Order: sequence, then structure tokens, then C-alpha cells
Amino acid sequence: MQNAETASRATDWLRNALPGGFRPKAAVILGTGLGQADWNLTGETVIAYRDIPGFPRSTVPGHAGSLAAGVLSGTQVLVWRGRFHLYEGYTPAEVCMGVRASALLGAKVLVATNAAGALNPLHSPGELLAISDHVNLTGESPLAGPNVDAWGPRFPDMSRVYSPRLLEIADENAMKLGIRLEKGVYAGVRGPQLETPAETRMLRMLGADAVGMSTVMEVIAAKHMGMEVLGLSCLVNKNLPDCMAEVTLEEVLEVAGKAGEKLGRLVAAVIRDL
Ligand code: HPA
Repeated sequence: MQNAETASRATDWLRNALPGGFRPKAAVILGTGLGQADWNLTGETVIAYRDIPGFPRSTVPGHAGSLAAGVLSGTQVLVWRGRFHLYEGYTPAEVCMGVRASALLGAKVLVATNAAGALNPLHSPGELLAISDHVNLTGESPLAGPNVDAWGPRFPDMSRVYSPRLLEIADENAMKLGIRLEKGVYAGVRGPQLETPAETRMLRMLGADAVGMSTVMEVIAAKHMGMEVLGLSCLVNKNLPDCMAEVTLEEVLEVAGKAGEKLGRLVAAVIRDL
């Protein structure tokens, strides 16, 4: 169910809590382990998720659980430091609450970041990948239930979910910054268990380059509300069927922590060029 009332209540509360005149142009969601990156955000007002009425709490280590409103590269942005996942038991509507609130507060752009496993054998841990498209394998949709017509259409188009304009801006800036930026398809799974070798092989056959347990819900909700979307994955492990390696949260956090700085520079550059 899309919970319009809860989202409106949270948004009204945020409108009051944010500094007067704050009109976010973009919202950025920071994925697992990426919340500690230096985002060069200035003049920030920080709000704990637990203080926002009706808001879920993030339960995963590596997720701060707070919203920062501030200025990045001269642009007012909302930075969601930590997200909610289906595997934590949250509903799609809860997972998307931040995106709904961002759009209701006026943000036109969503930059969704995440930590993901690399399925493409040519990609390596520590590298960044711009999401060109996704496969939603969660079996869920944030749009199930009665449509909220004020938010968007019943059957939103998904032919170009990830904005070609933003992909180009990301690509150009990555090049200027000397950051290697892969492009590829992100498979969104429910988790929390990682993939078996057979599942990994299947995901690769489905055309995916990266796999993770987030992002697809939020991106669908953002697209529903007419936002322009950029998805950036930080590849934290190799997920190859014929040489499976164990993945630990510690490892994910370590690689994400190291790549976070790079991701921060890229996001700041993209926001400057919006
Ligand atoms: N699979 C699913 N989710 C992930 C992975 C993975 O290999 N790495 C980080 N998130």
C-alpha cells in the first residue's frame, strides 16, 4: 500500500523542521557504508529519522539513520544517510518514504547510491558503476495498491528510468576527475541472504552486471513521481558463479568506506552540473 497520509505527515513535519526557504533541488540516498563519506555539504541541518513522524528506523550497521539538509556545490540538497531495506522487514512504502518526502518537498532529482556485488567479471571491487537500467527481482512494488493520483500515474513508464542526461553528466565528470565509472544493469533482490552460485549464474544470464538488496523500490517511486534518477553503485565484492567467495558485512563496509570518498567527489560534481 502506498501510504499517502504517512508520507504527507512526515513531509509537513520536515517542512517545519527544515530551515525557512530551504527548497531542495535534489535528494541523495547514501547506501551501506557510504554514509561516512565527506560530501562537502555545508550549512547542514541534521534530523534523526527517529524524530520524523511515521518514519521507520534503519537497523543495519553502516547506516547512520539521519537526514542532512544542506548545500552541496551551490545547490540545496537532502542527503538521506542510511536507507530502509525490504530485508529488514519494511514494506515497500516504508522503504520509499524518504523519496516520497523528497519529491513532495520539491526535489526533482534523485541520486540513489548503494553497495553492490559485481556480476560482470570485468568489474572489480572498489570501482563505481552508473546504473543504466535495472531488473526488479524483489517480487514487490511500491506502487501496488490504489494509485495515489497526486503522486503519479497508475502505469508509469519504465522505458528510461535512469536519466540519459544524468548518466552523461556522471560520465563526463568521472572522466574529468579520473574516476573509472562502469555502466551496467543492476539486479535488485530482496535478500538478506547472498546469492548461491546458481542464482549468480541466473542473474548474469538475465543481463545483470551488479546485484544488490536496495535501490529498485526507491527508483520506481521516484520515477512514479516524475523525478530524474541517477543510480550509482559502489562495487564491493565479486559475485562470480565459478569462483564464489564469502562476503562479510565487514568487507562490504571496508570497501565501501574506501570508495566512499570517490563517490562523494563524483556526486558533488554531478550536483554542480544539474
Ligand atoms: N549480492 C547482493 N547484495 C549485495 C552484494 C552481493 O554480492 N554485495 C553487496 N550487496
